[in-house]
Amino acid sequence: MKFSVLTLFPDQVAGFLKQSIIGRAIEAGHISLETVNIRDFAVNEYGKVDDTMYGGGTGMLMQCDPVYDAWKSIEGKPHTIYVSPKGRTLDQGIVKELAGYDHICIICGHYEGIDARVIEEICDEELSIGDYVLTGGEVASCVIIDSVSRMIPGVLPNEEAYSKESHMDGTLEAPQYTKPSVWHDKEVPEILLSGNKAAIDEYNHINALYETMTKRPDMFDRLRLSEDDIKKVLALHRAM
Ligand code: ADE
Repeated sequence: MKFSVLTLFPDQVAGFLKQSIIGRAIEAGHISLETVNIRDFAVNEYGKVDDTMYGGGTGMLMQCDPVYDAWKSIEGKPHTIYVSPKGRTLDQGIVKELAGYDHICIICGHYEGIDARVIEEICDEELSIGDYVLTGGEVASCVIIDSVSRMIPGVLPNEEAYSKESHMDGTLEAPQYTKPSVWHDKEVPEILLSGNKAAIDEYNHINALYETMTKRPDMFDRLRLSEDDIKKVLALHRAM
């Protein structure tokens, strides 16, 4: 899987993604990252990439030509995404969809954004990472690359590492614990120390449902649960 990021701040993107799991995945060749500096395609020798808006309005807008020429410089035909607060909101379903592409190009706006005409011409979709406004698309591009890369074979140690995570099946994970088994008088639930795999799976299943019910009732409402699961999660709720 290849990611190409068009940005005015390539170091911000490359600096974040060279760390930790994603950095190792790049080194191992499971994913590749190319950053393209839009300023290299400026409209004049002073590095101009933006101008004032027609119709008024404060701030500057990135111009069509630098963005278009930067995009044309990329080899291949990537699935092209413009990151902006106006896009579809990223969720695990969209992340899974994106993991199916071989090559994704992400275009990061800055200042007041990018001239709408070039977005319309080259972008396949517009994605937001949430209902708030960032200073630019760079952080959003890192969020997309991080979440999509986790789904690429070889990036995480095994498939279980991502298939059992929160959001993968519409629920949140059950709470997890590590050593020591007692900390500040708080004990790890005994069943998790029992070694009984079937009992532990059942415990984690019901506690995942409980976690979802209490922390994300909107997700819980969308679940189609068996009578048995409903009984067990309500019993747990009464016991808490
Ligand atoms: N650029 C500015 N705000 C953004 C957001 N919420 N999501 C994606 N890109 C953005």
